[in-house]
Amino acid sequence: VEKPLVDRFGRVASDLRISLIDKCNLRCTYCMPADGMAWLPKSRLLTGEEVRRLVTIGVRDLGVRELRLTGGEPLVRVDLVDIVAGLRADHPELPISLTTNAVGLAKKARPLADAGLSRINVSLDTLHAGTFQELARRNHLQATLDGIDAAVDAGLGAPLKINTVLMRGVNDHEAADLLAWAVERGFELRFIEQMPLDADHGWRKDNMVTSAEIHERLSERFVLSADPRDRDGAPAERFQVAHRADPGRVVGTVGIIASVTEPFCSDCRRTRITAEGKVMACLFSREETDLSELLRSGASDDDVADRWREAMWGKPRAHGMGHPGLGDDDFVQPDRSMSAIGG
Ligand code: GTP
Ligand code: 5AD
Ligand code: SF4
Repeated sequence: VEKPLVDRFGRVASDLRISLIDKCNLRCTYCMPADGMAWLPKSRLLTGEEVRRLVTIGVRDLGVRELRLTGGEPLVRVDLVDIVAGLRADHPELPISLTTNAVGLAKKARPLADAGLSRINVSLDTLHAGTFQELARRNHLQATLDGIDAAVDAGLGAPLKINTVLMRGVNDHEAADLLAWAVERGFELRFIEQMPLDADHGWRKDNMVTSAEIHERLSERFVLSADPRDRDGAPAERFQVAHRADPGRVVGTVGIIASVTEPFCSDCRRTRITAEGKVMACLFSREETDLSELLRSGASDDDVADRWREAMWGKPRAHGMGHPGLGDDDFVQPDRSMSAIGG
């Protein structure tokens, strides 16, 4: 395209993430408060038609090449299957993926696959019901596991990725078990350093489980070696996995998303739109650019594209946690919690 989404630092955003809803059926401590979250009224959410229009502008005018639908929890959105079908009709070749907690996916996996969804990433932090309850404040481990099975049956695992946030004293001792579970099923597990996007502002850098610590934990049972494939702007650094007992035989892949200790901001290719239609140039943006008002006041596609370009031009260089020359002091936690951004 002629005028893609470039920023002042020369990055080009080709990876679009749209949040479809701010609600969720879990309350993970690193993402949402236990209660008291004020949901957006339905009238403020982008409609399915508006989502389609934005994606078309993104793909046709702005160089978007990949789409991910997020939440809150996107499965909570009742018209999700229709939205996916519409997007697929508009863009036969576009990779369309979903980040989900898989609660409710047992029923929706097949319809989503039939509607044209390409693949899914599932958030799963523990294999124990008690820990699940502690971490997600809901008792839905079995529903999650059933959802994952249904996704595999429906062919959504190409590949199926699992996202795991480790929290000290909660689930960090489960790292190796989770990896063994994922490897056995052919899933690509990614361990994610917890970022300060919790509603309660309880995140402390010195209490975060770091990439180095994750490596140490995994080395009790596994040998990791650098994955030769190109990282290609991906947040996860990937490793080939072998069992300690048989170090020569690669049995799977694991990723580590070290957003805090090894930020990938300089390679960031992301542009985000919140559920109410605001562009967020960065996960940690303190500024947002509203597109829904334009969409709802008869603006042309060109106007929308221009506003979106302006928003991305102002993308910050980095989030400011642990960057050389950009001390941690520069970092201010955004008001939005992860659930209101979409991850
Ligand atoms: P793939 O295309 O499957 O690799 O997807 P993805 O990893 O981009 O998407 P997913 O929604 O599964 O995100 C995984 C994790 O990466 C999220 O949970 C975040 O913790 C982290 N992440 C995603 N986007 C950003 C970002 O823009 N900045 C930072 N720092 N972390 C991000
Ligand atoms: N830090 C890192 N990852 C997070 N996620 C949610 N909150 C945080 C956080 N504070 C992840 C979830 C999910 C994705 C959308 O974001 O694990 O996979
Ligand atoms: Fe819901 Fe995902 Fe946030 Fe957990 S991390 S509360 S599943 S949106």
